[in-house]
Amino acid sequence: MGAEIPDWAGIHVMPYVLSIPEYVPGKPVAELEREFKISSAIKLASNENPLGPSPKAMEAIMKNIGMTNIYPESSGPELRKALAEHYGVSFNQVILGNGSDEIMQMLTHVFVGMDDEVIMPQNAFSMYKIVTRLFGGRSVKIPLKAFHLDLDAMARAITDKTRMLFLSNPHSPTGTTIRNSEFKELLDVTRERGVILVLDEAYREYVDRDDCPTGVDHVDRSENLIFLRTFSKIYGLAGLRIGYGIAQPWLIQLLNRVRPPFNVNLLAQEAAAAALLDNDHITRSRETNSLGKKLLFDSLSSLGLDPVPTQANFITFRAGCDAEALYLALLKEGVIVRHLKSFGLPDYIRVTIGLEDQNRKFVDALKKTVEGLSS
Ligand SMILES: Cc1ncc(COP(=O)(O)O)c(C=O)c1O
Repeated sequence: MGAEIPDWAGIHVMPYVLSIPEYVPGKPVAELEREFKISSAIKLASNENPLGPSPKAMEAIMKNIGMTNIYPESSGPELRKALAEHYGVSFNQVILGNGSDEIMQMLTHVFVGMDDEVIMPQNAFSMYKIVTRLFGGRSVKIPLKAFHLDLDAMARAITDKTRMLFLSNPHSPTGTTIRNSEFKELLDVTRERGVILVLDEAYREYVDRDDCPTGVDHVDRSENLIFLRTFSKIYGLAGLRIGYGIAQPWLIQLLNRVRPPFNVNLLAQEAAAAALLDNDHITRSRETNSLGKKLLFDSLSSLGLDPVPTQANFITFRAGCDAEALYLALLKEGVIVRHLKSFGLPDYIRVTIGLEDQNRKFVDALKKTVEGLSS
């Protein structure tokens, strides 16, 4: 069957749906191995935790596997209670999503209508623009300034049609962070103008610098703020799809009106509750990341590829040659990275920080391909 929309009985497709770009995921390892008939390929493309899931989460999955004939509790009350305790907020300030992506979609469902504006960084996670378009909204993209978010320019872009603003801290794909003072200013301006500020903190657990805001410090004073976190990154549960949002109760209550029932499955809820308390796994994940960050940063610098200093679990660098050719050449060496064309940075590549042997395999493959492509 072709993918053309049938011209039948006047079927009506919302015109803006035709302009929604499909999400481009990182290439899966199995697909690459099939395509190139290779084995032992590695994927450093989607910022997953290379140590795997928390062992405590795996135990919780095994313990609950026999319960999967029963619907989960719809809003995940036990995990929401645990998260409320973790952050010192109340239970009705927490919502769970099938990945934090799903909460982004609930937000545009509630707040963004036809031709409303949503401000976001120009080079950013593509779900911001996809969820904006889902309900007919328009993305207003603000260029980065030396790989950093330009919060002043974002504030200046607010108009009477602006409904929401996406910030990511650390920002993907650059790994840069924002400062406390600039965040507070933007929070005040958005509040005065009735704009919902969505602070995406998917990588916040990796940050090791002091001057970096965090949503929980502001959420009780700021009616217009929601911060999003995920179990997909440092907690190592990307395959289970679970994330959460924290905001004031009025906002969470609105999101619950559009949240599909049972949106987070039982195993995800149980595994996340265990992973949240597994401090050993979190500490090991942070340590592995800092060691890998140093190795990759030094190697990329010595190859003259200008890595961007990162506060996350990935590093973006200039390809120094045709980035697409470099990406494809690395695939042939069994290394999947992320070419940043879909992020609007066609000359750049992003690599996830892996385990030591994965990082070395990437660096060896990179040296070989860079030499090959420039000779
Ligand atoms: C910046 C950013 N935000 C959010 C997400 C989505 O996370 P989740 O897996 O919770 O949907 C990602 C995933 O790659 C991301 O890079």
